[in-house]
Amino acid sequence: MPPILEERVSLRGFNTFGVEARARFFCRVRGADDLAALAAEPRLVGLPRLVLGGGSNLLLTKDFEGLVIKVEVPGVRDVGAADGAWHVEIGAGENWHDTVERLLAMDRPGLENLALIPGRCGAAPIQNIGAYGLELAERFASLTAWDLETQQAVRMSTAECDFGYRESAFKRGLAGQRVILSITLALPIKWQPVAGYADVAHELKAHGTQRPTAREIFDAVVAIRRRKLPDPAVVGNAGSFFKNPIVSRDEHRALIAHHPSLVGYPLSGGRVKLAAAWLIDAAGLKGATRGRAGVFEKQALVLVNRGGATGAEILALAREVQEKVAEKFGIWLEPEPVIV
Ligand code: EPU
Repeated sequence: MPPILEERVSLRGFNTFGVEARARFFCRVRGADDLAALAAEPRLVGLPRLVLGGGSNLLLTKDFEGLVIKVEVPGVRDVGAADGAWHVEIGAGENWHDTVERLLAMDRPGLENLALIPGRCGAAPIQNIGAYGLELAERFASLTAWDLETQQAVRMSTAECDFGYRESAFKRGLAGQRVILSITLALPIKWQPVAGYADVAHELKAHGTQRPTAREIFDAVVAIRRRKLPDPAVVGNAGSFFKNPIVSRDEHRALIAHHPSLVGYPLSGGRVKLAAAWLIDAAGLKGATRGRAGVFEKQALVLVNRGGATGAEILALAREVQEKVAEKFGIWLEPEPVIV
């Protein structure tokens, strides 16, 4: 069955900010064959493509005059073991959090620190999702993708994905060119807890947990996220709206001299990653409301739709946050979500 091409589709239900925008064309794809069929569709020639997973890292600011590809490739399967890790292949359309939980139940721990991150599995490599001391790159083996230029499926290794902090080749040279079909994760056979992140350590201590199991870390992360981050099903948001900026040792020294309570984490080579949430908070914007857009009360790095906001309103607030932080600290915050 060829995929069904819909026209003038509302994307409101397909982005976690819950903003309205329309797609000129919209198509759900379940595999490479569907993408090959779309290549032969004359109405789509020359039109831009937007690949959508869960729409949880996306801000739509206007209608999209091209083809929106909604990836719905299913499946979770064990594909063997190599280099001390179980390899599990996951369809790009699987829900991330449900997969983390399902793998725990299959006795394949290793993703528990990344519990409750919204979105689909195919989007995870794009921004190299990370939380509570772990990044996807540390549990990644390879992926398969469909190349929209060559109209062929390709396999990509960790090195080819070129992961960085909330970065990958898919946000740089390959932006808009490849549709991720499946990811293969490498989950350690000899599992060890990653429980050093302060919030996680406190949460486990509060429960009197000494040697946490993967399930206990999963529960701790879920509890922390539920307390601090808004549920996109209730309040529209895309998680952290900005990346934590990285500054040199000298810049950090100069900043801390003026702002002794500045929060930062040392990186290798003397550089320091600053808590953007702290910068926004210190610029007096936590809890701010502009029209129907706002800065979340419990986590200043999260912008929210307070009900009926447009993408343009959220973007204007983001711009104000960037300007106020730049005025006070001389740092320009970079957005984390894809802005269309
Ligand atoms: N802080 C404030 N004010 C606030 C919130 C936080 O001053 O309103 C300070 C606190 O000192 C806190 C520090 O900022 O200790 C860092 O806050 P938090 O631990 O909540 O982490 P974050 O750096 O703000 C990052 C990720 C999150 C991830 C958490 C936990 C980025 C851009 N964000 O946030 O990822 O869940 O760490 O690991 O790296 C996302 O990418 O969408 C996301 C939610």
